[in-house]
Amino acid sequence: MKKEWWKEAFGYQIYIRSFFDGNDDGIGDLPGIIEKLEYIKKLGVDLIWICPFYESPMDDNGYDVSDFYSVSKDYGTIGDIRTLIQRAHRLNIRVVIDLVLNHTSDEHPWFKESRKSRDNPYRDYYIWQKPRYKDNVRIEPTNWASFFGGSCWEYEALTDEYYMKIFSKKMPDLNWKNPKVIDEIVKMATWWCEMGVDGFRIDAVSHLAKADFVDSTQYPDQEFKPEWGKFSNLPKLHDYLKILNERVFSKYDIVTIGEVGGNAPVKDGVNFTLPENQELDMVFNFDHNWCNNGWGAKSGSQLSTDVKRLKEVFNKWQKGLFGQGWNAIYWLNHDQPRLVSQYGDPEHYHVESAKMLATALYFMWGTPFIYNGEEIGMSNPEFKSIEDFRDVSTITQFHINVERYHQDPAEYIAAASFSSRDNARSLMQWRDAENGGFSKAKPWNIIGDFHKINVESQIHDPDSIFSFYRKIIQLRKDSPYKDVIIYGKYDQILADHPQIYGYIREYENKRILVLANLLAKPTALGNLPYRTKTIILSNYIRKQVPDIMKPFEAMVLELEEDK
Ligand code: GLC
Ligand code: CA
Repeated sequence: MKKEWWKEAFGYQIYIRSFFDGNDDGIGDLPGIIEKLEYIKKLGVDLIWICPFYESPMDDNGYDVSDFYSVSKDYGTIGDIRTLIQRAHRLNIRVVIDLVLNHTSDEHPWFKESRKSRDNPYRDYYIWQKPRYKDNVRIEPTNWASFFGGSCWEYEALTDEYYMKIFSKKMPDLNWKNPKVIDEIVKMATWWCEMGVDGFRIDAVSHLAKADFVDSTQYPDQEFKPEWGKFSNLPKLHDYLKILNERVFSKYDIVTIGEVGGNAPVKDGVNFTLPENQELDMVFNFDHNWCNNGWGAKSGSQLSTDVKRLKEVFNKWQKGLFGQGWNAIYWLNHDQPRLVSQYGDPEHYHVESAKMLATALYFMWGTPFIYNGEEIGMSNPEFKSIEDFRDVSTITQFHINVERYHQDPAEYIAAASFSSRDNARSLMQWRDAENGGFSKAKPWNIIGDFHKINVESQIHDPDSIFSFYRKIIQLRKDSPYKDVIIYGKYDQILADHPQIYGYIREYENKRILVLANLLAKPTALGNLPYRTKTIILSNYIRKQVPDIMKPFEAMVLELEEDK
């Protein structure tokens, strides 16, 4: 397997708006990140991915870009981004930025032109379709749903056509069939490479290609059909990526990470990342994000980890890409709940479960990413009413579900409390002080229990979650186990065990074994046919491998060579 710097990097995702407020206006910003670079260095990671900081009306917190070449005044200036890159590089931290290619803001100059008339030169930068009529009533060009609720089409009376928007109505989809759009994107991505960024996390990349506009015949009970395959991972997408690779990515020493989410089959993961295909370096898939009943449950107490499914999807992506493409490994991001709330138990086993979750994941094969706050075990905040939410997706669906489909608002709030993206976007908990030390001004979003969970109380405590993360990062970055963790072959063991996720990594005579009890109850390990050489890491104090693993117990062992 070819060695590359990005295979050996350890990533850290920063949701800029919620990370640290450098100028005390209540909003996280670039100077805030600069101020916290030392913290990031102390954690030990050497790559940061920063969520969008471009000029934007902030309908979707910056994923709705109105100018790809400038920085939002919420976040600072172009000068700040230059400084950030410089300072990060001085600390040997690489900087990856979010590249939003599927859509722009409706306030982007291209769209402002596009919507003016049917023959505007920018009309074909976006996807416009004529209405259909049913019993003389105007209906959408297709019955497809939007990810954020309702239809994926928005009607414009001025030109009597619909534009496509698979996210919010303020985020019209770009038309990748138009070569001019591709030229613009090439120019823009090149500009950022010249600025000195070390790579891109490519937002919603699966969706660039759309199917022919034919109605979905699935989901008979739903008005708009969530058949995401109509605009996910279609063959044409690979052509677009090859063009971007040839014209931009291959010209720079950068890493490209595609967000391929939504039902991407493993074989697509291979196609995206197989080096000879010359598309992307690695992909984020979503299969492990909701292996509990998080979408169907009406209350948080109904959440429970679906161990069987979680193990299956992890194993599928590990085995499926190994030796071919490359994986990015992460638990959750800014679009999901907080990790300990999703898969751990912040109330009864906060430290144990946070450490177990880190162990289960970060010894797998692939480039690891931490979502900011995971390293201190941040949990979901407490939402009381719809006013506590900021996320456009949560709010749009609230209105549709309550007003159009008459759902009980209290029921919606209860469910959104543990599924909303605002959980992950709660403010970073720095200290047990006003606003968790995030800002001196009234912050833009909600915050979790910073009295109990915060950076300051963990950073010097050798037994803290933070220190445990540091240890794991150090094992991957600089230890005798580095190569086996980064390049070793992966094999699952105990595949049928109802609670334990176990796997072996192997590289040139070195073998390590990872065991993680995914649930809050003890479980028997049974007799394993291996001899332990060293206990590399454990979240309970252990001198040897136990017969019974405690709630959320996890261990990493070096094995004796087979005689
Ligand atoms: C991606 C982002 C998400 C955003 C969407 C539209 O899924 O992670 O936050 O809302 O794309 O840009
Ligand atoms: Ca600020």
